Amino acid sequence: MIDFAARRWAYMERIGDGVAILPAAPTFIKTADQEHQYRPDSDLYYLTGFAEPEAVAVLAPHHPDHKFILFVRPRDKTMETWNGRRAGLEGARQRYGADAAYPIDQLDAVLPQYLEGVSAVHYHFGHDKVFNDRVHGWLAAMQRKVRNGITAPHIMVDTQVILHEMRLRKSPDEVALMRRAAEIAAAGHRKAMSTTEPGQREYEVQAELEYVMRKGGAMGPSYGSIVGGGFNATILHYHENSDILNDGDLLLIDAGAEVEYYASDITRTFPVSGTFTAAQREVYEVVLWAQEAALGQCQPGKRFCDVHGAAVRTIVEGLVHLGVLKGHVDDLIAQEAYKPYYMHKTSHWLGMDVHDVGVYKVGGEWRELEPGMVLTVEPGLYFGEDTDSAAARYRGIGIRIEDDVLITHDGYDVLTKDVPKAIDEIEGLMRKRSAAAAMP
Ligand code: GLY
Ligand code: MN
Ligand code: MN
Repeated sequence: MIDFAARRWAYMERIGDGVAILPAAPTFIKTADQEHQYRPDSDLYYLTGFAEPEAVAVLAPHHPDHKFILFVRPRDKTMETWNGRRAGLEGARQRYGADAAYPIDQLDAVLPQYLEGVSAVHYHFGHDKVFNDRVHGWLAAMQRKVRNGITAPHIMVDTQVILHEMRLRKSPDEVALMRRAAEIAAAGHRKAMSTTEPGQREYEVQAELEYVMRKGGAMGPSYGSIVGGGFNATILHYHENSDILNDGDLLLIDAGAEVEYYASDITRTFPVSGTFTAAQREVYEVVLWAQEAALGQCQPGKRFCDVHGAAVRTIVEGLVHLGVLKGHVDDLIAQEAYKPYYMHKTSHWLGMDVHDVGVYKVGGEWRELEPGMVLTVEPGLYFGEDTDSAAARYRGIGIRIEDDVLITHDGYDVLTKDVPKAIDEIEGLMRKRSAAAAMP
């Protein structure tokens, strides 16, 4: 159970006499009057547990009585009959612990009162341009009234500075949720691996995987599942998931689960037939070695860039070994000669957001890894349709191996270890599939 009140107190202690403004994520129309499934803003949810749209939380530690204020949609019998339950003002106070609650349509009239006499406003200038403009509007209006004795805030602090640093270090409760998200997604990947057959469509595999995740209690996928066979595996953000899976091709699946708004993010690549070809095996082994080398850097005190550096070095050594690159490894790394085949970074933070918050550099230096941080380790190699620089036997091979890694006091813990990634383990799991199919 996440203790949202404890988080708020910890955050308020750090913002001192500042005020934080945390708006709900906007809703998005899908077609006509139908909305995309709503996903609350991670900052707002992290500090309140409040998941409804059209809400704003204000944290005002300097205020004698109202330290936590929620602006929400009021109760409305008709709207709730059509669109679902609302906490309303009473629920905001009783269930979510707000000291004061107002209808959201009073935001412009009421919120600026909480900014009077405050020096700093903590706010994330994100994608919601309309709300950004409202914040500017409140501050500008207050500044116009300074001659009436109003003291307007004069410092804007992005939530990146304090709140995102808190989110970057996961508590044991958060790690437990991330472990669950990882386990559920791992079960989905195992199901995909053990049911894929030549001739299926990519979406059939997607359906198996997402069925297992939802059935296992996930809210759904933590991002659009990527299920790409053959050349589609070489497209990093492939999303159509509609082609036929051919015997002899590889299938790359990049899919994660969301559990209580915490994400997992797993990629596995395996042969549609159940058996790697010689060329696929050669490339796969390089990517697996690169991942092992990168994992070796996942320990407190190592820098974020060390993880990528180890993966890149191994990838380049592998590409030289495969005859794809020629020259000295150090020179090839310096020239970034690997980029046509390995064009993305090895890691990103993982948490409530798949590409989670938290700066990667501190004072101009790549930051040190600390216990409680969670990052992905996801090297890959891609020989796409336009890769005529590599031997023809490698063309159409796209491989990524991605795990979610918790930094611990003495090293790391792979949260997603329940999905096979060694070649013999993958082939072994897929052989059971053939055996099951052959059973009368
Ligand atoms: N699935 C998104 C990523 O791997 O970064
Ligand atoms: Mn990732
Ligand atoms: Mn991924």
